[in-house]
Amino acid sequence: MILAQMAQTTLFTREQIDSRVAEMGRQISADFAGTELIALCVLKGAVFFCADLVRNIPQDVALDFIQVSSYGNQKYSSGVVTILKEPQLDMHGKSVLIVEDIIDSGLSMREVFRYIESRGAAMVKTATFLDKPAARKVPFNADYVGFSIDPKFVIGYGLDFAEKYRNIPEVQVLSD
Ligand code: PRP
Repeated sequence: MILAQMAQTTLFTREQIDSRVAEMGRQISADFAGTELIALCVLKGAVFFCADLVRNIPQDVALDFIQVSSYGNQKYSSGVVTILKEPQLDMHGKSVLIVEDIIDSGLSMREVFRYIESRGAAMVKTATFLDKPAARKVPFNADYVGFSIDPKFVIGYGLDFAEKYRNIPEVQVLSD
C-alpha cells in the first residue's frame, strides 16, 4: 500500500519536534552532568531522535546501539522480545541513557532496561520521543518523554509501517 492511498494527518511538525528535543537535551545535560554518559540508541526507529538528541547534549556522550525483535510487518507487537544486536561498549560504572522512538506495550523497553542493568551500568535512565501509556501491557515509565500520545498508529521521524515512512520528517497519524 502506498502512502497516498492512506489517510494521514500531521501530529507533530518539524518545529514542534526540534523544540521539544532541544528541551529534552537541556534537561538530560543537567541531570547527567559529571557522569560518563552513553546514549544507547534502540534500532532502528530511534536513530533519528537519538541523532537529534545527542546533538542537543553539549557534553561528552558516547554512542552505542542495540536492536531488539521487531514488529515485522504487523501493526501490533508479537509480545516476544529478543536481543538481535548487542551493544559494543563496556557499560561498567557508566551512565546509560536508553533512547527509544516510542513506548507502546512497554515490552521492548522493559527488556532493554533489564539487559542493560545486567551489564553493570552505574545508572540506567530512559528517554522516549513518544509515549503511548494507554497501550501498556507491562508497566514502564520512561524518565524523559518527548510527547505522550493517544494509542494511534504513527509514522515518520523514524517510525515505520512495514519498514516504510521512517524518512518522513514530521510525525503523522496513519489510518486505514
Ligand atoms: C518499535 C519501537 C520500539 C517498540 C515499541 O520497534 O521502535 O522499539 O516497537 O513497542 P513496545 O513498547 O510495544 O515494545 P520495532 O520492534 O517495530 O522495530 P524498529 O524500531 O526497527 O521499527
